[in-house]
Amino acid sequence: MALDIKDLKPRIGTEIRCNKDELLSGEHAARLRELLEQRGVLVFPEIDLDDSEQVAFTRSLGKLAPEMQGQEIYKVTLDGGANARSAYLKGSMYWHIDGTMNDVPILASILSAKVLSTEGGQTEFCNTYAAYDDLDPKDQQAYEKLRVTHSAWNSLFYYEPEPPLEMLEQMMTIGDNELPLVWKHRSGRKSLVLGCTAYDVAGMDPKESARLLVKLRDWATQPDFVYRHEWQVGDLVIWDNTGTMHRATPYDPASGRMMHRTKLEGEETFA
Ligand code: OGA
Ligand code: MN
Repeated sequence: MALDIKDLKPRIGTEIRCNKDELLSGEHAARLRELLEQRGVLVFPEIDLDDSEQVAFTRSLGKLAPEMQGQEIYKVTLDGGANARSAYLKGSMYWHIDGTMNDVPILASILSAKVLSTEGGQTEFCNTYAAYDDLDPKDQQAYEKLRVTHSAWNSLFYYEPEPPLEMLEQMMTIGDNELPLVWKHRSGRKSLVLGCTAYDVAGMDPKESARLLVKLRDWATQPDFVYRHEWQVGDLVIWDNTGTMHRATPYDPASGRMMHRTKLEGEETFA
């Protein structure tokens, strides 16, 4: 059977309806990988995969990347009772790419909605390929030469403006990573590398650096490049982490919102 495919926005997002058994069989894997790269985000409305089905689906697309403690499934929730490391997830409410502390970031993340918050908790995605493509060619050339330092501790200030020193030092142990502002992918396509971990453009004074990073975030997240997913329980969403940024819209940590996440191992270095 063919996949039932519908574009959600001209520049980002595709909705796919298909039979669960077919999805798990892997017969559409090559086509899905192609669509993922082209469209940034794929949505499978109310497909209702359980954990083992989600793991199987993930494996059908590439190599499953285990979480820090080796789990296949990670519970994305701000509820400290359900996830002891939930504090780190506060950074997920600001535009970001997963894994900017690694030279090879994960290829993709897959989220399944288990419990929703009554307010907020949508997920927004922007297409960083489209954001690069639509820049003025002179700016493209200038930006290609720039490098940006990313750090987890920078993102801490977004949600904890006056952190205790101990918390700051803890985040600092994660390290810094200098990345190109423009990622030249093996495919020949180019995308912008931005997000709340980006804090310093090499060779620029702090004001100029902040101005450029804010200007580019604003540019990359303009409505034409953004798809906002309004979740239903059972929805499964996969995004190309190498060609998008994403963020959760604010929600109450006590709301019980629960997403189950799997990840695909990265296949390409930031270059
Ligand atoms: C993530 C993430 C956003 C959300 O799991 O990496 O950023 O909406 N999640 O929960
Ligand atoms: Mn994330």
